[in-house]
Amino acid sequence: MEIKKLNIVNFTQFTNLTIEFSSDFTVFIGNNGAGKTSLLRALTILLTWLIARIEREKGSGSPILEADIENDAKYSQITIEVGDLSDFFQWKLVKQRKGFKSKQSSDLKNVTRLADRYRNCISQDNNSSLPLVVYYPVERVVLDIPLKIKKHHSFAQLDGYDNALTQGVDFRRFFEWFREREDTENESMQQILESLKDNYQDERGGGKLSQLPYDKQLTAVRNAIAIFMQGFSKLRVQRKPRLRMTVEKHGKTLDVAQLSQGEKLLMALVGDIARRLAMMNPGLENPLDGEGIILIDEIDLHLHPQWQRGIIQRLRDTFPNCQFLLTTHSPLVISDAKDVHCYVLNDSHLTSIEDLYGLDANQVLLKVMDTEIRNEVVQKQLTELLELIHHGDCNKAKVSLSELEKELSADDLELAKARLLIKRLEVLRAKNR
Ligand SMILES: Nc1ncnc2c1ncn2[C@@H]1O[C@H](COP(=O)(O)OP(=O)(O)OP(=O)(O)O)[C@@H](O)[C@H]1O
Ligand SMILES: [Mg+2]
Repeated sequence: MEIKKLNIVNFTQFTNLTIEFSSDFTVFIGNNGAGKTSLLRALTILLTWLIARIEREKGSGSPILEADIENDAKYSQITIEVGDLSDFFQWKLVKQRKGFKSKQSSDLKNVTRLADRYRNCISQDNNSSLPLVVYYPVERVVLDIPLKIKKHHSFAQLDGYDNALTQGVDFRRFFEWFREREDTENESMQQILESLKDNYQDERGGGKLSQLPYDKQLTAVRNAIAIFMQGFSKLRVQRKPRLRMTVEKHGKTLDVAQLSQGEKLLMALVGDIARRLAMMNPGLENPLDGEGIILIDEIDLHLHPQWQRGIIQRLRDTFPNCQFLLTTHSPLVISDAKDVHCYVLNDSHLTSIEDLYGLDANQVLLKVMDTEIRNEVVQKQLTELLELIHHGDCNKAKVSLSELEKELSADDLELAKARLLIKRLEVLRAKNR
């Protein structure tokens, strides 16, 4: 299942906008206030209806908020089109401003039809999959790791949808779930080890080790973290001397609480996606192959440029069958992977840019993000210097160069280029004399 299209009318600052999505990665960029989060929120509101109707036949999702109706409009309308291999499903939500009437009304027939299909499948076959649908808002930095387990979790398939569109990542939930599953895993391990001991004399325990009952869901989470975060492995819960979650980073054991903000955030994000996929796909040998729609606001949050660069490819490698809808402020996120459909939002208009793969960050800043690559004053001085060289004004160029040399680092590339050009100019002059 994937989102094909979104149409929004009078939603926040958008009067009427239609967007088509790539089945792989769609990324929105744009200034602060351009409307990136609004688009993800519109999708989220529409998707709450799908989850609600998979959970219950007559379930209700979230309404459009009054505050989201464009300030000058009487109503707001948002429509989504979702498709899979064989069919399309379109549903529409409308919200009238209090006290006003309009001809438009919500149409939720098709979300009911789609949800019915999934409910029929899971009723007939315990092993059938459900699509993951999850939204990580900017406020996803909830990183406390509890010392006590407060809530006991159920591991039912539908629990993969718990808080999926409302809460974002949360280490507490992840940790509680991980620990409970690990307890169950340890119990099954213990039973196998006991029986190995009993049979050791006559059977030598042969073959049984390969049947150790590693929990499939935990394995999916561990694998996801290993694939996504190179150098990190062996995520586990240590019970003694005190309860804590640990991970190996380049061979050294660390308390997860000791990791940096960015590392924690990524680990919780990837762990949360993997955990949900594992719950939704009980029949898959590798639950990370499950399908899903994943919305992440500001994917570059807390990430060092090096991590920003590889993030799309890492997500793709870890969750190959999920559709990602992302927003970012980083030129590195969008220029490092192939087949990324990028949209620039400006004044409520959308410009589509198919492929920025391989462009350097400066080009993306200049051409796509409409941002100078240097401090404005320095950029002006550099342009003036190059113009002086271009016009053959060697003396003034040298003065301008020495001014800039006081301000910038000695190995600045543009200054090195200017020095070379001035030297060449002087050699030419000397020859012509
Ligand atoms: N009801 C409304 N009517 C008109 N405009 C609105 C309404 N609600 C919000 N807005 C506009 O939407 C903007 C917020 O959009 P949004 O949060 O989607 O931006 P963004 O691109 O995510 O920005 P940032 O990069 O800062 O997160 C506000 O600047 C405001 O101008
Ligand atoms: Mg935003």
